[in-house]
Amino acid sequence: MKDSKSLVKLIFKIFISILLLISVGFLGLYVYNSSPSNLVKEKISEKDWVPKDIQLEIPKGIVAKDVEYGYQLLSETSKRIGPMAEDQKMHFSGNNMSCTNCHLKAGTQAGSASWVGVTKRFPQYNGRANKEITIEDRINGCMERSMNGKKLPNKSEEMKAMVAYMEWISEGLPKERQEEFNGFPDIEIPNEAVNLETGKALFIKECMICHGETGQGLLLTDGSKGYQFPPLWGADSYNNGAGMNRVLTAAQFIKGNMPFGQASYNKPKLTDDEAFHLAGYINSFERPIMENTEEDYPDLKKKPVSTSYGPWKDQFSAEQHKYGPFPPMIIYYKEKYGMNKTK
Ligand code: HEC
Ligand code: HEC
Repeated sequence: MKDSKSLVKLIFKIFISILLLISVGFLGLYVYNSSPSNLVKEKISEKDWVPKDIQLEIPKGIVAKDVEYGYQLLSETSKRIGPMAEDQKMHFSGNNMSCTNCHLKAGTQAGSASWVGVTKRFPQYNGRANKEITIEDRINGCMERSMNGKKLPNKSEEMKAMVAYMEWISEGLPKERQEEFNGFPDIEIPNEAVNLETGKALFIKECMICHGETGQGLLLTDGSKGYQFPPLWGADSYNNGAGMNRVLTAAQFIKGNMPFGQASYNKPKLTDDEAFHLAGYINSFERPIMENTEEDYPDLKKKPVSTSYGPWKDQFSAEQHKYGPFPPMIIYYKEKYGMNKTK
């Protein structure tokens, strides 16, 4: 009696063990199939790291909903939260541009103020506000200026989605590569004023074919993506409070990124001087005027010397603040306040 009882127990134990083994096997197979990278972690070397490319990841069906929504907002801004949005309540951006018209390759292109690693750069002190600002504040800076629109609420689904996208493209960014994705390439600031004739000649030669004779760009008429070639001035462009309206900032952007397809941050096509005259030329035309810009930079000595709108904490002319020469102003702030200005 006792023997047969322990035999049953033994058979039962063996049975359970086999069952367990099979389940573990299936579980492993399942995990592997759904995402092989969970088990096979390839070590990517720091120099080979690249930001995530949403166009490649979406078809795999593993991009989170908010990340995908963030991408849509940033790359089809006008249709989603701008003048082309069907729902009037969603009209936040004021022009038909997309964020990605300046933050190239969906914000992953080094040398175009990329968003790779950007959420880690905030909160950050901001001279324009003279206080620490968050990533949401910074996004709204571009909403009000580059997009000539109004702020998105910090807690809105749209704001959260944009931030989620920025975090997602940056996953795994090695420390050594952070600087590469930060900001624009430097330029050596010419010690002369912008020459608008030089700028115009360069514009005709290098830019007009895409951005058009009158800088208006090319708006896609199917209402899908906004611009094929974004405008450089005029009513549908960034406003005078935008970073791109500073000649030195625009020159850096142009050097690192334009003509589109021919230049990159580590292989520019134009010289620093050429980018400088071009930046002055595109910013010499009319564009929307932002309200209350006199409230920017409560501590006026922190205002970049290439800010075109006053007031300033110096006696240089409005003309010089717009077109240079900038080095004398930079020297002035260095001597008077010990400040090292770069723009
Ligand atoms: C007209 C060009 C332009 C457009 C359009 C634009 N931006 Fe920007 N953005 C800039 C420039 C220029 C800077 C850097 C400004 C500076 O150096 O003062 C910047 C900076 C930023 C930064 C901070 C980057 C960093 O590394 O500190 C974020 C975030 C940002 N923009 C988000 C956006 C979002 C979101 C949109 C769309 C709602 C947008 N931008 C549209 C030109 C643009
Ligand atoms: C081959 C076409 C092409 C040429 C040539 C070209 N661009 Fe662009 N440019 C673009 C496109 C496309 C974008 C937007 C990129 C995107 O959305 O991915 C852009 C964006 C810009 C922007 C930022 C967005 C805006 O509208 O404010 C500026 C500034 C700019 N270009 C200036 C220039 C200048 C200056 C030149 C001449 C040196 C130039 N481009 C030559 C196609 C071109």
